[in-house]
This record gives sequence, C-alpha cells and structure tokens, in this order.
Amino acid sequence: MQLFLDTASLADIERLAKLGVVDGVTTNPALLAREDGDPVAQLRAVARAVAGPVSAQVTHEGEKEMVAQGRALADVAPNVVVKIPAHRAGLAVAKTLAAERIDVNVTLAFDPAQLVAFARVPVAYISLIFGRTEDFGAGDRERIAMAKRILAQLGSPSKLLVASIRNPGHLCAAIEGGADVITVPPSTWDLVFDHPFTARGLEDFQRSWNALPEPRRRAYEALGEER
Ligand code: G3P
Repeated sequence: MQLFLDTASLADIERLAKLGVVDGVTTNPALLAREDGDPVAQLRAVARAVAGPVSAQVTHEGEKEMVAQGRALADVAPNVVVKIPAHRAGLAVAKTLAAERIDVNVTLAFDPAQLVAFARVPVAYISLIFGRTEDFGAGDRERIAMAKRILAQLGSPSKLLVASIRNPGHLCAAIEGGADVITVPPSTWDLVFDHPFTARGLEDFQRSWNALPEPRRRAYEALGEER
C-alpha cells in the first residue's frame, strides 16, 4: 500500500516527506489554485520535489481538449499522471491517453460501478472519493472493499486510490478496505500527529513526575547525559 499526499504545496510536501508518508502526490485544480504563481510552474516544481507519481487534473470539458491538455500535462515531467473525470467523455479520453502509454488517474468516482469500464481500459489509478459523501451523512465504508473486489474480479491491474480523507477514521477505513493507494491531505496528517489525547497524556505524566522532589528525579534525568 502506498501513501500519497493530497496537496500542491511544496512546504507541506517537504515537511511530510520527512515523516515518511509521501510516496507520491495528488493535485487537483482547487489545490493548485490555492498556491501562488503559475500553476504549470508549480506542478513542475512539485514533480521535481517528489520521486513518485504526481497527479495533475485536466481543466477542459471537451474530449479533444482534454486529450490535448492531458498529453501536455504528461510532458511537464516524466512522473506526471493525468487525472481525468470518471464520466462518459472521460472514458474516451482515458482510452486515448492509456493507448499512448500515458498514466491516467480517473478521479471523482463515488460509486464502485463507475470503476468498471475504466478498469477494463485499464488505467493506472482509479480514485474513489470517500470524505465528500460522508460530509452529507451518505458515507458507506463498504464501498471501498466493494471497489477493491470489483477490480480483482475483473482481473484489472488498475490501482484503487482512495481520496478525500478528511480525518484519521477515514484513513483507517481506507486501509481496512484494501486501498492500494491512499491520498491524504496535510490537514489529516496534522490530526494524526498532533493528537490532543497524546498531548494531554504527556501533560498528566509530566505533572506527576515534576511533583517528585528533585533529588529523587536526578539520577533518572541524568541517564544518557554522558553518552
Ligand atoms: O482530488 C480528489 C480529492 O483528493 C479531493 O479531496 O478533500 O477536496 O474532497 P477533497
């Protein structure tokens, strides 16, 4: 299983790569729009900063335009994967690009049925969007395992990428559901690494420790000082 970072921010990539959770990156137009400057230059910089795949989404709607933009995005850097929407026109685009050996990531799939035709192309990745349905109370964790079973049943090499991971619970659900790749936004990693109960527990332990008279703490605290 691989972990991608869902961001277009170089600062976030740098700080989270140090923690070992960045096997690749996924961007989308909204994430690129959050960054300053020219989005093409930003994508190029992100692709340079990451050894693994970096997804970049087409912004056009017409089939011809999506194909042309997809080819151009793939030319930005060798590790760019072209993101195409999981709809009718997107299928035709995915077929054309995949035939040209361009890696495609099909995005905005919500129903496992949306995977079927794309899995037969086959595309490199299919992104099942998880958190956006949970926002409306329509979350169904079983969708992840079902999507994974469908890919296996079809004998498809397409990887199941679970996206829109809003919180630590979503991350665990995606792992348990058998995702091949999970793309996690920096904000979710912040919730994982800065867990308030961990901080609270440390405060409790430290308070009890500090209540000990200093002579009793001395030897324990001096451990390792001479090494
Ligand atoms: O690009 C698809 C997915 O990563 C979007 O996540 O947080 O906008 O639902 P989010």
